[in-house]
Amino acid sequence: MSKHTVAAPANIAFVKYWGARDLAQALPLNASISMTLDVCRSTTTVEHLAGPGADEILLADASGALEAAPDGFRRRIAEHLGRLRQAAGSGGRFVVATRNSFPAAAGLASSASGFAALTLATAGALGWQLSAREASVWARRSGSGSAARSVLGGYVEWPMAEDTDEGSWAESLAPADHWPLADVIVLVETEAKEVSSLDGHRVATTSPHFAARLAAVPGRLARVRRAIAERDLAARGRALEEEAIELHLGAMSSRPPIFYWKPATLTVLAAVRALRGRGLGAWATMDAGANVHVISALGDGDAVAAALAALPGVVGIIRDQVGPGPATLPEGLF
Ligand code: PMV
Repeated sequence: MSKHTVAAPANIAFVKYWGARDLAQALPLNASISMTLDVCRSTTTVEHLAGPGADEILLADASGALEAAPDGFRRRIAEHLGRLRQAAGSGGRFVVATRNSFPAAAGLASSASGFAALTLATAGALGWQLSAREASVWARRSGSGSAARSVLGGYVEWPMAEDTDEGSWAESLAPADHWPLADVIVLVETEAKEVSSLDGHRVATTSPHFAARLAAVPGRLARVRRAIAERDLAARGRALEEEAIELHLGAMSSRPPIFYWKPATLTVLAAVRALRGRGLGAWATMDAGANVHVISALGDGDAVAAALAALPGVVGIIRDQVGPGPATLPEGLF
């Protein structure tokens, strides 16, 4: 039977998916917009084998060696494989191996890249030809809503559509070459975060600030859409920082509260403001984690990275940028 390998990128949300109408199906309470990355990727090989037996799910360790994936990760992958197998009306079993080019589960959207790669590689192994829309719907059904955006490159919107499972998918706003932006990812922690984004969605609406952010989102989406169309760095940057602060304000004031930030997160945010004071066009955002994504013109990435790498509490920098989206690879992980 057949084997298929896909590398799918992470994405950084400019306007974020936070809170769900239906968490199991990842149907959001608001539309979101993201930039697909290039360097932060999950590479997944899926082999479909005839005959009975359990699916085998492997994860590459830091040295690249494949080992059995941890329980929580394995369970979510097995559920998604089951969903895809059933939809294909197919039997058999899968062998799956995944390697991330970046630290997993530290708020760097490893679930987005991981489930986008898993969805596309499994479809390939099953011989499915998915349209971009079907790929996005299927990636979303993994339960990681942001994976719906990672099947596309460049600038992507996941609109608030009909209230149905079939009606919710992400669409391209502009290709990567429309606007070459850098994402300097400033790492202040590389361990798995304490609270998953799924648990964050679960309690999102309990924050007294949730309704206020939700009411602000349509205006913010319009500003970000316009800023992307017009390549307006400052307008996009202001909306980006507002959104990040309000998302974390919501998380910190939910019941129970969730603190994704570390002290060094604030150090980096202050340094980014200081960079702007010196005339550099750089703006920061964080997903559900402590690490800071600093977005600037591509040509300013070197200056941004040089200014932030030596700050106290910074343990590493990943130099990323807007990228073209997933790719099928000729070589598998096994
Ligand atoms: O797709 P999930 O369930 O991992 O949630 C993503 C949550 C954020 O990263 C905070 C926002 C986003 O839109 O990516």
